[in-house]
Amino acid sequence: MEKLIDLRLIEIFESKMKELYLDKNLKPVEITVATDEKFGDYQSNFAMINSKIIGKNPKVIAEEVINSLEKNDIIEKLEIAGPGFINIYLKDEFLGEYLKGIIQNGADFSFLNREGKVIIDYSAPNIAKRMHIGHLRSTIIGESIKRVYDYLGYDTVADNHIGDWGTQFGKLIIGYRNWLNVEAYEESPIEELERVYVEYSKRSEENPDMDIEARFELKKLQDGDIENTKLWKDFIKVSLNEYNRLYKRMDVSFDTYYGESFYNHMMPGVVEELMEKGIAVEDEGAKVVFFKDEENLHPCIVQKRDGAYLYSTSDIATIKFKKENYDINKLIYLTDERQQDHFKQFFNIVEKLEWNMEKIHIWFGIMRFSDGVFSTRKGNVIRLEQLLDEARDRAFKIVDEKNPDLSLEEKNEIAEIVGLGAIKYADLSQNRQTAVIFEWDKVLSFEGNTAPYLQYTYARIQSIIKKAEENNKKVDFSKEILFNNSTERNLAHHLTQFNKIVLKASQTYKPNIIADYLYELSKKFNSFYGNCPILNQEEAILNSRLLLGYSTAQTIKKGLSLLGIKTLERM
Ligand code: ARG
Repeated sequence: MEKLIDLRLIEIFESKMKELYLDKNLKPVEITVATDEKFGDYQSNFAMINSKIIGKNPKVIAEEVINSLEKNDIIEKLEIAGPGFINIYLKDEFLGEYLKGIIQNGADFSFLNREGKVIIDYSAPNIAKRMHIGHLRSTIIGESIKRVYDYLGYDTVADNHIGDWGTQFGKLIIGYRNWLNVEAYEESPIEELERVYVEYSKRSEENPDMDIEARFELKKLQDGDIENTKLWKDFIKVSLNEYNRLYKRMDVSFDTYYGESFYNHMMPGVVEELMEKGIAVEDEGAKVVFFKDEENLHPCIVQKRDGAYLYSTSDIATIKFKKENYDINKLIYLTDERQQDHFKQFFNIVEKLEWNMEKIHIWFGIMRFSDGVFSTRKGNVIRLEQLLDEARDRAFKIVDEKNPDLSLEEKNEIAEIVGLGAIKYADLSQNRQTAVIFEWDKVLSFEGNTAPYLQYTYARIQSIIKKAEENNKKVDFSKEILFNNSTERNLAHHLTQFNKIVLKASQTYKPNIIADYLYELSKKFNSFYGNCPILNQEEAILNSRLLLGYSTAQTIKKGLSLLGIKTLERM
């Protein structure tokens, strides 16, 4: 596996700095990619940031370092720029060999602290409700973050903290017993549960006594009543069946499905511990955690007056469970922006309990359509499945127009992959904290920063490689990559940045960094391809350009898969 170029450069300069300025307390060397190829491949400001510490002018330091640096296989030349920047030019040969190495063997991430599990909590729909587009972002951003951490060699656990406990179950039980249409339930169970729930709400408005009855059924469930428990379990089963069908379609998977109810038995212990340690106090019969003024948080109820536990209590219990059952590296949670306070509160409580571990709440803005709509005309929130179907159908029309000769089967397959990819990419390519505005024509366009454009670039390269193979020319990694044209070198340089970009996406929890990178990559490939024909060239050039094409295709494929998006060999 290949060590990242940045790290190699840092090592070279740091050891030289230490040698020259032995007893100084130097600031670490940082390397950035040059903003313009005029300034070389990389730049560093280490001479400037260490100028005061060393007591010399940055230009003098830069000169001293450059003049005493031994020859090596990586650096072609160094230049001093402006007030003391150092411009770094890599050797062509190193760049080519490094690129081949990284494409064949991957990058070495062993410098990361990968001990313990990274547990990612995402998707988490509430039982007996169909998933709607509000669940989309949590599901696909979470899945992408999981894939990114897997890629870096972390040991991840994908946990679906389903909402399977709460006051709605008393109402559902009444609805089920009184108004269920058995046939409809068999056909489309969650839809029917939603219907009886609405029925309940309508009727209880006229008949408030029903709420008493519902609370009674809920209490029976909480106390372990056999009949109610059976119903509750059935609601969970049919809901999970439907969710899993959608997850499969979206290529999303989980390792655990511990829902809220899983932590029930731990709740009394958690509240007791909070009381014992003086973190929670009794307040009008309820148990409440109050925060200091400077913590700027609303009080958090952990147990209601009637004895019921809350969403926060179950989240505190999850941490206790994780602490006792896993060796933890960090916990990552994904929800929409409305839960920011909830996470601040319970993270704060967990810190007061001194259950120390790294925890991050990743929140995102809400997804809307360009006309501001989040629901159908009837006022129902758009269901996830409707959205996926619509994307597929629209993609089908486009594929059918572009490629009428494909078989129906192939068109269907392409439509599903392109449609899903377009939806996922439209979400993942945005800064997650902004609201996503969804415009069909834009997300399904084959041009611009979209999944279809990237998938299309990939398929185009694959077809070039196939053509070369038909002429008995296979990509040969034992031969070198030649740089005759600046677009070739430019592309190669960008390709070598991929792993660093993935690393950055993991540190910032921002998959859109990968999306931006891939879009840039496709543009660089297209400008290379526009200037440098691949086929019908003399052997050495043909192979070199095939290597660049192959590396681009593999990087697009890998990058898209980190976003949960599939590629197609032709489209
Ligand atoms: N079920 C919750 C909802 O739909 C999301 C759960 C997020 N995870 C957590 N550990 N609180 O709002």
